[in-house]
Amino acid sequence: MNKIALGVASSISIYKAADIIRLFQKEDLAVRVIMTEKATRFIQPDFFTALSGEETIVNLFDRRQRPIEHIALADEISLLLIAPATANIIAKLASGLADDFLSTFYLAVKSPVLIAPAMNEAMFLHPQTQANIKKLRDNGVEFVEPEAGYLACGQTGGGRLASPEKIVQTSLRLIRRQPVFKDKLIVVTAGPTRESLDPVRFLSNRSSGKMGYELARQAYQLGAEVVLIKGPVELEPPTGVKVETVVSSEEMRQAVFKYYDQASVVIMSAAVSDFRFRQTSLKKIRKEKLTLNLELERTPDILEELGHLKRGQLLVGFAAETADLKTRASDKMKRKKLDLIVANDVSREDIGFGRDENEVYLFWPDGRERLIGKTSKRKVSQEILTEIGAMLNERKGNN
Ligand code: PMT
Repeated sequence: MNKIALGVASSISIYKAADIIRLFQKEDLAVRVIMTEKATRFIQPDFFTALSGEETIVNLFDRRQRPIEHIALADEISLLLIAPATANIIAKLASGLADDFLSTFYLAVKSPVLIAPAMNEAMFLHPQTQANIKKLRDNGVEFVEPEAGYLACGQTGGGRLASPEKIVQTSLRLIRRQPVFKDKLIVVTAGPTRESLDPVRFLSNRSSGKMGYELARQAYQLGAEVVLIKGPVELEPPTGVKVETVVSSEEMRQAVFKYYDQASVVIMSAAVSDFRFRQTSLKKIRKEKLTLNLELERTPDILEELGHLKRGQLLVGFAAETADLKTRASDKMKRKKLDLIVANDVSREDIGFGRDENEVYLFWPDGRERLIGKTSKRKVSQEILTEIGAMLNERKGNN
């Protein structure tokens, strides 16, 4: 099912529901908005109808709806999200009171329910509100915690609606999670490494981190615990993912090994520098003293080391090639003892380094191969993780 029901209550943060709808639509999910009567005092239902492309529901007895709309709609959705949720709607749901469409609909819904509260801090922390939240949690309802910040009442404190990005990412995890990823730690590396010569000069490459960030985002949505080990990139980290920031290949190596024992899967999409300067300086080297033949040495090959120390982890490498994609990627897969290698042609300007799109070949040790044609890095990541899920399932079957 590709539809979300979005319940909207009467909070001043109601305007953020518009961003939430847009973010769902970007993920090819349709949204049906249900407003409480009081919410219509802030925004007209037509606003959400125009945004979502579907008639906004407010009343239980609206002749434009199907005869028993709350039951019919409950069968069509994969999630009921209430954002923003006021103290009032939370109290009503906790007590099972069904006196309008949203509260009646909640009782009919069989899919997961996610609530994003928004209210004054004192109201949120009030023992009655907390007791209502606990009761709902005990019934399996999930919450996106409100954040601290400036509130509509003029105070600063907790109780502000979480960001639309965080709400949508948490929703996607509830919809897309798969049992095979539950309690699995997936380590993803992203971006370049930077090998310093002195405090101002370094050796690096053109990796933006986009590929690795998307892999981490998709792994989180599938229900895994995710550690993203990233070189120097400026992207906003995906929600729910633990981030470790490193600079050099040696720092990346240490960070990966910190998690290796607990990891079920390691995906090395980082463009680790192959070389570093043999001699470095803590002070800026004066131009006159710089020799024109700077000596380089190889960096540790993290993936090769991981391959040799593998104890049940599933190892996925990337291969950045400009020619002989299959032969070179297959050689790397063998040498590094990988379970899967993802090869991309980095001589192409339209994919790979820095681009939002990629085209990759997947090669397996048993000779299988698959092309994922040019598409967004988000979709490429979804396909790669589908393959990883299948490999994990296969292993479970074999044990
Ligand atoms: O970051 P983006 O701008 O989105 O670009 C994505 C990408 C082009 C960087 C990505 O798709 C990609 O190809 N990543 C791998 C880049 C790379 O270093 O490839 P390689 O063929 O040189 O290395 C093979 C594998 O060994 C890689 O998994 C690499 O992470 C790993 N490696 C390499 C060197 C080293 N010292 N240690 C390693 O672990």
